[in-house]
Amino acid sequence: MSIRSIRLAVLVSGRGSNLQAIVDAARAGRLQASVEVVVSDVADAPALARARAGGIPAAVVRRRDYPSRAEFELALAGAVERARPDLVVLAGFMRLLGPAFLDRFPGRVINIHPSLLPAFPGLEAQKQALEYGVRFTGCTVHYVDYGMDSGAIIDQRVVEVMPGDDGDSLSARILEQEHELLVDVIRRIGAQMKMDEKTGEETGKQMSGAISEGGCVRHGREQA
Ligand code: GRF
Repeated sequence: MSIRSIRLAVLVSGRGSNLQAIVDAARAGRLQASVEVVVSDVADAPALARARAGGIPAAVVRRRDYPSRAEFELALAGAVERARPDLVVLAGFMRLLGPAFLDRFPGRVINIHPSLLPAFPGLEAQKQALEYGVRFTGCTVHYVDYGMDSGAIIDQRVVEVMPGDDGDSLSARILEQEHELLVDVIRRIGAQMKMDEKTGEETGKQMSGAISEGGCVRHGREQA
């Protein structure tokens, strides 16, 4: 157990730069992780090409191919489960997930969002921040619950809004931080898993218990 990498399933809908950051960090030895599968709900997502280029199994599960949201989520969960991941990473996956998916992976699904949650959940978080006129925004990695970007926060990075920023320039600076933060959080979750000598499933259940009791959810930030 102590020498094994954390096994990841990464869910995507679009560009896949966060997926790429994980793959690059693993390849460079900066992250002891293996991406076991990439699953997209969008058939022509550029992220799928990145997966294929990296030799990672890729699957497409589209909402429109299933009569209900629950059936779609069960198919998605099946594609993820087959890869036996310790952790499921939503990296630009643009759908809300409900119990049919999440209850299969308690405490094991994380998401990256481009704002300092709980500010600016949902779509176009960077634009929302600009329109509100905040001086600082950033990004958040959090556990996923049934709500919209509402799960327990694991860690955040702050990004200053500069005079003259537009959506593109601000998004680009936040994205740089996203890439670092996501890799860092996965590293810490993997380290925690190894320290406890537990599987991802056991660590997730323990985490899920801590979250529902309002306990601390940070992964070894102090130890890191
Ligand atoms: C990122 O800004 C992420 O925070 C948000 O969607 C975007 C995905 O970008 N959830 P990419 O597909 O990883 O390049």
